[in-house]
Amino acid sequence: MADFSRVKDLLERQRPGGEVAVRGWLRSARHSKDVSFLDLSDGSCLAGIQVVVPRDLVDHAAELRKLGTGSAVEVRGELVASPARGQSLEIQAGAVELVGDVAEDYPLQKKRHSFEFLRTISHLRPRTNTIGAVLRVRNCAARAIHRFFQDRGFVYLQTPIITESDCEGAGELFRVSTLDPSKPPRDAQGEVDFSQDFFGKQAYLTVSGQLEAEIAALALTNVYTFGPTFRAENSNTSRHLAEFWMIEPEMAFCDLAGQMDLTEEFLKEIFQTMLDECTEDLEFFNKRIDKTVLATLEHIVESPFERIDYTEAVAVLEKCGRDFEYPVRWGLHLQSEHERYLTEVHIGRPLIVTDYPRAIKPFYMYVNDDGKTVRAMDVLVPKIGEIVGGSQREHRLEELDIRLEECGLAPRDYWWYRDLRRHGSVPHSGFGLGFERLVQFATGMENIRDVIPFPRVPGFAEF
Ligand code: 4AD
Ligand code: MG
Repeated sequence: MADFSRVKDLLERQRPGGEVAVRGWLRSARHSKDVSFLDLSDGSCLAGIQVVVPRDLVDHAAELRKLGTGSAVEVRGELVASPARGQSLEIQAGAVELVGDVAEDYPLQKKRHSFEFLRTISHLRPRTNTIGAVLRVRNCAARAIHRFFQDRGFVYLQTPIITESDCEGAGELFRVSTLDPSKPPRDAQGEVDFSQDFFGKQAYLTVSGQLEAEIAALALTNVYTFGPTFRAENSNTSRHLAEFWMIEPEMAFCDLAGQMDLTEEFLKEIFQTMLDECTEDLEFFNKRIDKTVLATLEHIVESPFERIDYTEAVAVLEKCGRDFEYPVRWGLHLQSEHERYLTEVHIGRPLIVTDYPRAIKPFYMYVNDDGKTVRAMDVLVPKIGEIVGGSQREHRLEELDIRLEECGLAPRDYWWYRDLRRHGSVPHSGFGLGFERLVQFATGMENIRDVIPFPRVPGFAEF
């Protein structure tokens, strides 16, 4: 390992000189009369390094002449100045060794493939420029997120993936069961008897780590989660996944205003870090995918997020004269076309909408004094719509019980959540950021399925 360099480190060297060794996969191989040109990538950066293989070296081994795209090689040689345009250094090979077999019928060609096609070869698509860049951007964003919270003393909390509760109350749960689906045990009423199931109760994949994060925040003050969440919503859109990653900070002694300030500071710092630390990849997206991403990110980092409440947002939408597909009326959900109008046309930058009607929000949100709205907030950004959803939590037991009943939930199922309200209950708030929505926004990728290594969506869970 030690004597092999990463392509990134070699390309970053300012000057030629020295014997080097690299290994990776060929993105292209061109064999001419006197010489072969290999474009070798190890995924450490967007560019590959050009390897020039003299004819006598190729002649040595018949297999080297067959080297083509997709094959893996180890190269030793000298780092020299490159006469070719667009690169300052290349390797003059002294030895080239094929690792594994020569790739045959390699489906990735130098031409551009559609993202739909690439999804059918998710085992190879990380080797493309775009998906390779996506994976590096994800890594950069994840590092920035952990750094943001760690710098501020937040404790990273691992919340369970298997749960009994539907935090968001939307009924979009995937069941976790070991019962035989063809002949499940039945009770006297003929219903499936889940007391005989693995957990002795119905269990599901979690839609959110929030409820458990609240438990930890009421002991450690500031915590955050960063984990997978699952939603069985049957929406085949470019912004929904059945499995996605969510970041959920939870802060004790914090109200909605404090939470909004933190959210804004958080998003700005993450975008700034991405601009600073994945510059090359973001420039690639700006050039090849969406010409506005860099300007948009730079603009966001500099300008304050607008804040308006739901009631005002509805008034704006009612007056704007647009013909929306879905109706606009106080009490109804804002659809993504409405969200996009608000952020793209009305404000022209990120926007925080607050204080939604209680009837369209989950049981855990703090009820405002008006009795009609709750202390919820959504951050809306151009092209995506909602990227963050959060709220101040209902920390008053009496109010919570009213909300549980309103939402048709049994208080005994939430006994521990209620009990927390009896032992040192304090105002607390948090939010959830969809990691893939963040990456989609920053890269300008059209479809959320192309910003996660292995998308899970209705009808598809291969790889
Ligand atoms: O607004 P949501 O449902 O909020 C919660 O789950 C709260 N428990 C968060 C909290 O307060 N701790 O989801 C949060 C975010 C959304 O804003 C969106 O970015 C993302 O999660 N999201 C999805 N991303 C991809 N695919 C899906 N199906 C998503 N559903 C939500
Ligand atoms: Mg939401």
